[in-house]
Amino acid sequence: MTTRRTFLKLSALGSMLTGGVLKACAQSPAAGAVNKPIVISTWEHGLAANAAAWDILASGGRALDAVEAGVMVTESDPETRTVGYGGRPDRNGHVTLDACIMDERGDCGSVAFLQHIKNPIAVARLVMEKTPHVMLVGQGALDFALAQGFQKENLLTPESEQEWREWMQTQPDEVKAEINVENHDTIGLLALDQHGNLSGACTTSGAAWKLHGRVGDSPIIGAGLYVDNDVGGACATGWGEAVVRIVGCHLVVEFMRQGHAPEEACRLAVERVIEKNPDYREIQVGFLALNKEGAYGSYCIQPGFNFAVYDAAGNRMIDAKSRL
Ligand code: GLY
Repeated sequence: MTTRRTFLKLSALGSMLTGGVLKACAQSPAAGAVNKPIVISTWEHGLAANAAAWDILASGGRALDAVEAGVMVTESDPETRTVGYGGRPDRNGHVTLDACIMDERGDCGSVAFLQHIKNPIAVARLVMEKTPHVMLVGQGALDFALAQGFQKENLLTPESEQEWREWMQTQPDEVKAEINVENHDTIGLLALDQHGNLSGACTTSGAAWKLHGRVGDSPIIGAGLYVDNDVGGACATGWGEAVVRIVGCHLVVEFMRQGHAPEEACRLAVERVIEKNPDYREIQVGFLALNKEGAYGSYCIQPGFNFAVYDAAGNRMIDAKSRL
C-alpha cells in the first residue's frame, strides 16, 4: 500500500516527469489516517471546480455546499461545451440538462431534461431540500425552478449553435456513441469534508446531438452518482446508457463496501460494463471513487480520461488507468 508520505514524494516526481499530469495510481492514506478534506472531479474542467469546492472545505464547510459550488463553476462556463450554459444541444437544437446531488445523510435530488436554467445542480439541491421527491423532469422541473426564483435563460451559445448547424449539414441518420467525443464530458465531483462527511454532485448537457428527450446516467442516483457516508462515493463519465445498464456508481460503492480500494472498485465496475456491452470498444465509460478515508481512484475503458484531485498536496490532474 502506498503511504501518504510516499505518495507525496511520488506526486512531486510524477509532476517533474509529466509536466504536472500524474500517471494513474491508486492513492491511500497511511493506515489510520484520513486524508481530509479532499475533493476530486472528472476531466480538466475539474481543476476550476475543485478550487471553488476547496475554498469551502478548507474553511471547515460542509461537503454538500462544496460539491454544489464546485460544479456550478463548470455549469456557468460557456467554454465547457458538455455541461450547463454553452453545452451542445440535442439534434433539435435544444440544450437539455441533467444533474443530481447526494449528501452524507443519503438524501438526494435530481433534475433531468431541464431546459433554460443555467445551474441545474442548484435546482436538484432544492428538489432534495424542499420537496418530498428525488427527481423532477422536463417542464415540471422548469416550473419548479422558476417558482424557486431561478431565471429563464438562453443556454445555446453562438459557438454551440454553429457546431450544431454544421452537424445538421451532415444529416446523420443514426445516433451513435463516440469515444471521448468532447474529451471532457460530464462533471462528477466528490468531496470529503473536515468533519469526515461525504457528498457528491454530477451535471451534464448529455450526449451532443442526442434524441430530444434523451436522459443519460448523470441525473440517475446510483448510475451517474452514488454516496454512502459509511463507505464512500462514486461518479461516472462517458456513454451514459452503458452506465445505467449496470447502475454503475452504486456498484462501485458496493465494491468498496466489500473492501476493495477505490481504483479496484472502479476497475471491477468497468469490467461489468465490458461484460454487458459487446460494443465496449466503441464507447468510453470512466468511474471515479473516493472512500471514507480520503483514498481515491479511477478506471475507464479507453485511454484519455483524466481527473482532478485537490487535497493538502494541492490541485492537480491524474490520468486514469484504462482497460484498453
Ligand atoms: N455521461 C453523460 C451522459 O451520457 O449523458
